[in-house]
Amino acid sequence: MTGAHHGGHGPEVAIWKASIESSAPLLGDTGTRLEIVVIDLETDRRSSATSVDAWRPPMLEAGPGSSTARSGGSSGSSNAGWKREGRLTLPADFCTPGAVLIRKSPTQEGAPSVDYIGTIKLVSANRVFHFPAHSWVSSEHGWRVFFEGTAYLPAATPPSLVDERLRELQELQGTPTTRTLERRPADRIYWYQTYDDLSSPGDGGYRPALGADPRRPYPRRLATNRGATPGTPDRELPPAKGDKPWLPYDEQFSFDKAADFNGDTLTAALPAAFAFIAEAGDQRRLTWLNLLPTAVRAVVRNVLRTVFRYAEPPAANFDSFEDVLAFFGEDAAVRGSNTSPTHLYPAGAGAAMKGFGAPQDPNNPAPFKTATGAWDFRLDSAAAAAINDQIAADRVGPVYDSATGAPSNAAATAGVTAYAATAADPSANGARAATISAPPQPGTPSLIGRLGSAVWRRLTNDPSHDINNLLYFPVPRVLDGRPDAWYADEEYGRQALAGFHPTAITALKQLPQEFGSAIRGEHIKAELQGATLEELVAAAAGGAKPRLYLIDHWDLSAYWAEAEAEAEAARKAGKKPTSAVQHAGRCLFYLRKDEATGEDSALVPIAIELAHPGTHKGGSNGAAAAPLPPTAGVVYSRSELVASPKTLAVWRLAKAVFRSLDSSIHQLVAHFNRTHSTLEPFLIAMRRQMSIMHPVAKLMLPHFRYTLNINRNARASLINAGGIIEKTFSAGAFAMRLASAVYGKSWTFKGQALPEDLRERGMLDSAGKPWLDYPFAIDGLDTWAALTSYFEEYISLYYKDDEAVEKDVELQAWWTEVKTEGHGDLVAFGLKTEQQVWGFTGPIAKRGDLVNVLATIAWLASGHHAAVNFGQYDFTSLILNASSLVRRPMPAPGEPAYKKLTDAALGPPQEKVFMTYLADPFSAVQVLATVKLLSAHARDEHTLDEANDYLVDPAACAANRSFIDAMKQLEAAIETRNANPANWARYGLAAGTAAPLPYTLLMASSPPGVTMRGVPYSVSI
Ligand SMILES: [Fe+2]
Repeated sequence: MTGAHHGGHGPEVAIWKASIESSAPLLGDTGTRLEIVVIDLETDRRSSATSVDAWRPPMLEAGPGSSTARSGGSSGSSNAGWKREGRLTLPADFCTPGAVLIRKSPTQEGAPSVDYIGTIKLVSANRVFHFPAHSWVSSEHGWRVFFEGTAYLPAATPPSLVDERLRELQELQGTPTTRTLERRPADRIYWYQTYDDLSSPGDGGYRPALGADPRRPYPRRLATNRGATPGTPDRELPPAKGDKPWLPYDEQFSFDKAADFNGDTLTAALPAAFAFIAEAGDQRRLTWLNLLPTAVRAVVRNVLRTVFRYAEPPAANFDSFEDVLAFFGEDAAVRGSNTSPTHLYPAGAGAAMKGFGAPQDPNNPAPFKTATGAWDFRLDSAAAAAINDQIAADRVGPVYDSATGAPSNAAATAGVTAYAATAADPSANGARAATISAPPQPGTPSLIGRLGSAVWRRLTNDPSHDINNLLYFPVPRVLDGRPDAWYADEEYGRQALAGFHPTAITALKQLPQEFGSAIRGEHIKAELQGATLEELVAAAAGGAKPRLYLIDHWDLSAYWAEAEAEAEAARKAGKKPTSAVQHAGRCLFYLRKDEATGEDSALVPIAIELAHPGTHKGGSNGAAAAPLPPTAGVVYSRSELVASPKTLAVWRLAKAVFRSLDSSIHQLVAHFNRTHSTLEPFLIAMRRQMSIMHPVAKLMLPHFRYTLNINRNARASLINAGGIIEKTFSAGAFAMRLASAVYGKSWTFKGQALPEDLRERGMLDSAGKPWLDYPFAIDGLDTWAALTSYFEEYISLYYKDDEAVEKDVELQAWWTEVKTEGHGDLVAFGLKTEQQVWGFTGPIAKRGDLVNVLATIAWLASGHHAAVNFGQYDFTSLILNASSLVRRPMPAPGEPAYKKLTDAALGPPQEKVFMTYLADPFSAVQVLATVKLLSAHARDEHTLDEANDYLVDPAACAANRSFIDAMKQLEAAIETRNANPANWARYGLAAGTAAPLPYTLLMASSPPGVTMRGVPYSVSI
């Protein structure tokens, strides 16, 4: 091993061994033209600059991902990155390097160039020093500082590093002038901006900015500063044609993020796929094309000229329930999974049914259908190839920008600069090498040319990146092996506790009339096992176990007037208003007891109250005999409707319409607002105010990994005007305004802590235990407890007492900025007090408060997000279980539409009427592909059972290891819970009609892909 050698001649020097490791791919000029300077902690002196070009050439090696290999799932390709090793000549009295400075020079042609630096290691005679960098270095940055991994509170910073600590923060903060300038690619400046980037060009594309408006309070996002559209100050100019909105290099997805797809698929490939499908079906011509980056649009148009698989549009409606299940027809056939329900209609109703099993005409298959009747939206090979190329280009990220330089001569002659063109040898461990078949060509206009064919083949040959994989729909777990589950009322209630949206249910402790509801005792008395509504409410209000539970989604009604005005304006302008219909609704549940044992046996929906903009007008629809107040709707009583097979469809439709509303709130509030949007300003403030040396930054940065990237992409393609959410959710153009309304009304930071969240919803007894079998709460509270105890131990390593917390200037600057800049609207506009929003006023003054603040952030980024994100495909791809879109208003008794539904012949004829209310096939395929993408874990996902690689201090690493152990133990505990039939909400159904569906969403580990489990540290998809 290389040690320190005291030179015998001239000034005393020592030779140190040094290395730079990166998880980025080895391309053209990667890992070259870097210089390094060492700052000595004790002497405050700097070494002279060493060029790494004198070191061994960059070589490929398995990246850090390989040390955390998962069970199964991943194919042969691993997170390979590059490494450089060499020697540094340092003054002999350098003992403790505190920081290194690194500079990247432009390419030989003078073009900007970047490198990703993972970790830097310096080795003296007797010690190894780690410098966790995790950062892109650009030739436009000048010298960048990377500190050795020891954590220091600001007051404890070694004197030799104080200036560098401050200077680095100032660079990230910018000045009051630079922070508002338009961002350029290599910029590292973090500042705040409203959501003024949701509008799209063209008529009808305007969406009001969210944030900084008392009517539309919202958290801030990362500033891009493209300036306002002339005449519309709250509408940011779109990015230059073909460009993605700016994002700092350090926030971008890694090259190898996804096993199947990553969030970048949202911005180009997925809209392109939908454009192909729409064009092939001649539907909604060109609307998707307008969303695409220019380059992609050209490709799509080009291919469209020659590729039309079908002449007819997809059907406007599903024909029957079987027709919906046919989305999974091919997978069901391949795997022998039966998806056909057996008890869909009550016994004896069968004689009245018609139309089952109508055969396909094999000579004239319906559009987008196989000969066996399964839906098949996969693209033909030319279209798929065009999109796959785009996916490959997206995956290269910042490296693509810099892949213009020539490989260094040394590297080229060493022949170790390319990825293996074929699948990697799975037995390879450590360095792997392969020769280039066509080397990168600097300056070539084509991406393939610049990258070299070996890299290109590696990017495009991976079959898991084929867009058609995304358009293949496996049987979702809510259906798989349990075809009778989705329509059972017991399953409907179970999903409120263990489904994709377990965060909305509340204990009912008030009579419904007290909050304006029309639900009364007579609607539900047959369900209450001898009790009355009044008795149960009074008992719960008095502290007894609640037996009635409520999900209340009346908020969207706030936008009815505005929606109607916009629809009217569209009509006047000769445009078709949106086909979505917005409902407000409530669902009342009863916690049923086993009559024999008295034990809880199921949570059952017993009354659903729904209203839509026409409900309160009377007259035209003849809905209610007496006008309803705006706070009330039509009540659909389970006991009244399920008695007859004719009205059973009404009950099922009421459930579907309410679930659709619940699905909007899930996506916009529980998911996007409470995790994605809420967390972004916490990171912006942390980058600006807390040094990477800060122990809290080291603890928390893993919880923000890739969050800015996925949010940027979501604003570009998911939640923007005309984006996927608006097109496929009933909230339509009001989707994000709904999120803002609920944020303004209900959001508090204090209420995001899981125990507080559950307490506010009345779900805990006086001992802090959930009243009922509530898998999300039970597994979630264990996750919360493990996080809290880990953070307590960690924080006590660095803060000796409360005073140390209060005097931490970086921490307090961060907290103040979060409260005033990032989440300032609620207090600034008088919607709530500081105490209400944050739980305490002023600075963080106690260690306990700090632990609670950090645990709340970590919980939102990990457990809360995982619980509402990774079940999306397995619950909502079955649109019979959750249709995001409702296209017609829920009919009320006496209306013609009600009669049409109840009078239709049982079986497919009635189901066909039913399906005219829910998503059409074209909307459905968009939802399915999107939720499949959103539910997938990346190949390099970082889950809570894996180490935080920002930590270097031994005691901190030990605390982290204990936490990892706790996560593993919790996983085993959850398995045990899932296997116990007494846990009715996770085991199966009281009705016994279906196989169990274990609750796995809070199990920390997961292989890549759609797994319905796994808790990543951060919101990254
Ligand atoms: Fe998400």
